[in-house]
Amino acid sequence: MTTEHAAPLSRHYVFTEHGGPETEALLERAVPEPGRGELLVEVRAAGVNPADWKLREGLFGRVEVPRTLGFEVAGTVLAVGDGVEEYAVGDEVLGSPAPGEGGYADHTLIRAGDAVRKPGGVPFPVAATLPVAGTTAYDLTHAVEVEPGQTMLVLGAGGGVGSLAAQIGRARQLQVIGVASMSKREIVEATGAQWVAAGDGVVAAVREIAPDAVHLLLDLVGGRALRDVAELAVSPERIISAADGDTVAELGGTYRPSRPDALEQVTAMVAAGQITPQVTHEFPLEHARRALALVESGHAEGKTVIVPR
Ligand SMILES: NC(=O)c1ccc[n+]([C@@H]2O[C@H](COP(=O)([O-])OP(=O)(O)OC[C@H]3O[C@@H](n4cnc5c(N)ncnc54)[C@H](OP(=O)(O)O)[C@@H]3O)[C@@H](O)[C@H]2O)c1
Repeated sequence: MTTEHAAPLSRHYVFTEHGGPETEALLERAVPEPGRGELLVEVRAAGVNPADWKLREGLFGRVEVPRTLGFEVAGTVLAVGDGVEEYAVGDEVLGSPAPGEGGYADHTLIRAGDAVRKPGGVPFPVAATLPVAGTTAYDLTHAVEVEPGQTMLVLGAGGGVGSLAAQIGRARQLQVIGVASMSKREIVEATGAQWVAAGDGVVAAVREIAPDAVHLLLDLVGGRALRDVAELAVSPERIISAADGDTVAELGGTYRPSRPDALEQVTAMVAAGQITPQVTHEFPLEHARRALALVESGHAEGKTVIVPR
């Protein structure tokens, strides 16, 4: 192991048992040592996702507690474990924390094989939105063959994944229609998509813009909102959801496909300026509770990021 000035203690925003926000706490623990194949990373920014509160609630099953929250980070390599040859101390990387680790912290561990180099011109808060939200948007937008000029509908286009998916669709020269509430109109239009108000009347409004049906229907909401728009898809297999596996299966669509190169590809698109993740809120680590509450409300706009200071 090669180490350089690792601080002895690291702050971690954790949940101490499965349950609501009252189980969250800011703790200190020893800076972890990277195991074989792992990187010790100083977290410069951590993305906040709905998956974070779902893990806390126990919706993914029981996990060992206290457990640090956060599935996506960007930061600087402070030390490398045995067997790591592709990264060195000082490298800037992004990725998902190793199993059992979390991103809402001063330090985390990332498996070297899961990390990607952060392009120099991309700020840490932007890079931190890519391992989960970025890859999900990339995977959804590449789930079926589409041709330039065809239409993609994004249900939930104002959120973290939806706003990026809309931009990727535009970069692929698709006509993009983004369904979101009135308060998200600006952020949806900033992606280059045409905004359609969520709720009653959405099917008629989309048909007016795209009378020949939708070639790719991406869902970030699920439930009734998804059922209501499903008839707009050219065929059921062109409905792709990251939000609701049961409903999309019922409709004949696909739940969250994934491509092994998604993180490299979406990072390259950001580096090339083809897409720009919209980081709308940054919170210091001591305000992680507010950051997660914002996302847990279900009405987040763009991406919320924690920046430990
Ligand atoms: N399986 C995976 O790997 C994976 C990865 C990432 C995300 N996801 C899931 O995908 C979903 C979206 O994630 P996210 O990070 O984008 O969440 P987010 O940032 O919280 O965005 C969700 C968006 O949905 C909008 N929304 C809620 N109800 C709506 C409706 N009826 N019509 C239109 N828009 C509506 C919300 O805004 P307004 O209602 O205020 O307009 C909000 O902007 C979540 O369920 C998340 O768990 C899954």
